Amino acid sequence: MKIFLDTANLTEIREAVSWGAIDGVTTNPSLVAKEQREFFPLLEEICETVGGPVSMETTCRDAAGMVEEGRAFSKLHKHIVVKCPLTKDGLKATRQLTQENIRVNVTLCFSATQALLAAKAGAFFVSPFIGRLDDISAEGMALVRDIKTIYGNYGFATQILVASVRHPLHVLEAAKIGADIATMPFSVLEALVKHPLTDIGLERFLKDWEQLPPEARHSQSAPLGSGASLQRVKK
Ligand code: E4P
Repeated sequence: MKIFLDTANLTEIREAVSWGAIDGVTTNPSLVAKEQREFFPLLEEICETVGGPVSMETTCRDAAGMVEEGRAFSKLHKHIVVKCPLTKDGLKATRQLTQENIRVNVTLCFSATQALLAAKAGAFFVSPFIGRLDDISAEGMALVRDIKTIYGNYGFATQILVASVRHPLHVLEAAKIGADIATMPFSVLEALVKHPLTDIGLERFLKDWEQLPPEARHSQSAPLGSGASLQRVKK
């Protein structure tokens, strides 16, 4: 499963890229507004930093406006994927942009039948919003399972991008179901790294290492592990 970061914050993106952890980025108007920077240069910088798909969302309500925005976005960088909402106009725009070979992420998907329509319109990604469904006592992951079944039944190429991820269990479930991608905030990505037994284990190893006399730990003249270094330790 691919991992995307759901943010427009370059500090977070650079950090996650340095871990070799992310394959792409998703943004939305709320995330971009938080950064208080000029939109296009920010998105260009994100694309250069990530080196993979970067979703940016249209802000028009009508199909013609979305198509115009989508064309402009796609000219900005080869990694751009245009986000269109799952409305009638969003589907019209998806169909049109797809016909022009512009990749579309159909966003704000809350039902399997909506996802079916997104695939029929030619969406490159569909984004079911899991956390927002959980928030209203619906089971978000059940939607991902349904979409997986439907797309499998008919061989749709649209990739399932699990969005509105709130905690590591969402990521685990998405991977078990076989979703193509999960996009998550930086805090969730950080939580995936952490394990208390890793921290305890590392503390213990480093404490035991202290038991070795300092002169036996490293050698300037010969690298650790070489014959010369071992002989010096034996003496
Ligand atoms: C995805 O593309 C969206 O930007 C995002 O996952 C929304 O998440 P939220 O429901 O936590 O705002």
